[in-house]
Amino acid sequence: MPSGSAAPVRLREHLKRETDPQHRRLDLAFADVATSPQAYARFISMNHAAHEVLEPVVEAGAQRFPLLAPFTPMRGYLDEDRRALGLPLQTVTPSTFEEDDLFLTAIGILYVLEGSRLGARFIRHRIEQNSVHGFADRPPTRYLDATKGFFPRFDDRMTRFGSSLGDGNALILVTRAAQNAFTIFERAADEPHPQRNGLLAVGKPE
Ligand code: HEM
Repeated sequence: MPSGSAAPVRLREHLKRETDPQHRRLDLAFADVATSPQAYARFISMNHAAHEVLEPVVEAGAQRFPLLAPFTPMRGYLDEDRRALGLPLQTVTPSTFEEDDLFLTAIGILYVLEGSRLGARFIRHRIEQNSVHGFADRPPTRYLDATKGFFPRFDDRMTRFGSSLGDGNALILVTRAAQNAFTIFERAADEPHPQRNGLLAVGKPE
């Protein structure tokens, strides 16, 4: 891992600050995710829809730029949870990302996707604690379980990415990509659910 850069951008701190209002809104919207089956279902739906749109961009970036690899997608696990919960497929319209800026765009998205796995670990822990009095049955947690092993590498990766950014314009583009990625999550969370009432049926497999 390159470590000699004199003054690398503190990219993780920067992106955390720049996306903080959006993260807070999501945090608030899903405050009861660990105790409410309905909120958990919305959380899985939102995550699945957003990952479906965002992960292919990071995968395309990782194929072209070795620094971005490896990237482990989560949408398969999210789809398993979605099906186990009997939730309809939800889609969200993708934002347009500039192909020319794939490297920087993918870094911004990767920050959001891999960062959100930190929150997912936290949620998993709370579900474990609440399973006795919150959920009647423990919900399917393939996605949350799969996020367990990622924390130590996230910080290293962000440091490496920060060292690889050139001019200030690169930082602007990465920041915009991270904010756009958050917006996709927010849109997925806001999306009117075709079977909103069906969410009450959480726990009954398809
Ligand atoms: C129920 C909703 C959520 C809760 C309770 C939550 C909670 C958390 C917590 C506790 C952390 C810090 C973990 C740590 O540093 O060990 C975190 C980090 C993060 N979360 Fe969330 N989160 C939620 C939803 C989301 C969503 C939907 C996204 C994606 C759009 C997201 C993106 C992030 C990012 C990028 C970080 C890393 C921040 C950093 O750089 O330290 N979170 N979240």
